[in-house]
Amino acid sequence: MTARILDGKLLSDSVKAEVATRVEALKTRGITPGLAVVLVGSDPASQVYVRNKAAACEKAGLHSRVIRLDGDITEEALLDVVRELNGDDAVHGILVQLPLPRHMNAAKVIETIAADKDVDGFHISNAGLLMTGQPLFRPCTPYGIMKMLESEQISLWGAEAVVVGASNIVGKPMAMLMLAAGATVTLCNSKTRDLAAQTRRADVLVVATGKPGMVTGDMIKPGATVIDVGINRNDQGKLVGDVDFDSAREVAGLITPVPGGVGPMTIAMLLVNTLEAAERRAT
Ligand code: GUN
Repeated sequence: MTARILDGKLLSDSVKAEVATRVEALKTRGITPGLAVVLVGSDPASQVYVRNKAAACEKAGLHSRVIRLDGDITEEALLDVVRELNGDDAVHGILVQLPLPRHMNAAKVIETIAADKDVDGFHISNAGLLMTGQPLFRPCTPYGIMKMLESEQISLWGAEAVVVGASNIVGKPMAMLMLAAGATVTLCNSKTRDLAAQTRRADVLVVATGKPGMVTGDMIKPGATVIDVGINRNDQGKLVGDVDFDSAREVAGLITPVPGGVGPMTIAMLLVNTLEAAERRAT
């Protein structure tokens, strides 16, 4: 079997087009949804991500503001910037790009963001709401993956879902969303014994480890849906995922490519979350 490719770029374009329509509707009521992105330091990957987020906002008609701060700024100065954005009515969503410099406590910074502007969905109260089945903001990457599964009518009801990687940003919220959709979820981490035995049971396999090519075709159940969250550069400078695409494609039923899979959906869902924050405020 050769898997079908789940095109995240195509789906993200349709999500962004729908966002643009809803933004227009809000503008007729005098409201322009606004996203503030805070970038601390000069991490090259973060710079690219932030630029892409701002460009996507502008294209969909949202207002974006990028605040670039020196890497040696104090944590208190960053918290002051966040507090000011919390009080700014033109800002509906606040995103502090991670990772932060090592002298900062990322958890404290995230907790300082107003929960109703936390479009990343990382604030402890948003994590709690997600866990108890009443989400306000769903973290963008897992939210985008749910959209991808929905667009392909992949039912999670009673399905075996396996998530590899248990980060707060992807793995844990992914597990919660799939659990809420009726899946039996296994959340694997770096200590999991016999990872292949777990992944081989998956009807839906989500891999978010940051380790290039770590899931290979022999670890996949024939016909499974494989979602690759990884974005890594290999020795030749080529972008590759956490799944070994060539071998996985021979076994899976449906697979996301890298690039052009999950990545574009993450940005699209950030726009959705920002739009919905503005819509909530407007009602
Ligand atoms: N760094 C990598 N991914 C993300 C994300 O989704 N949000 C933020 N704020 N930082 C990130």
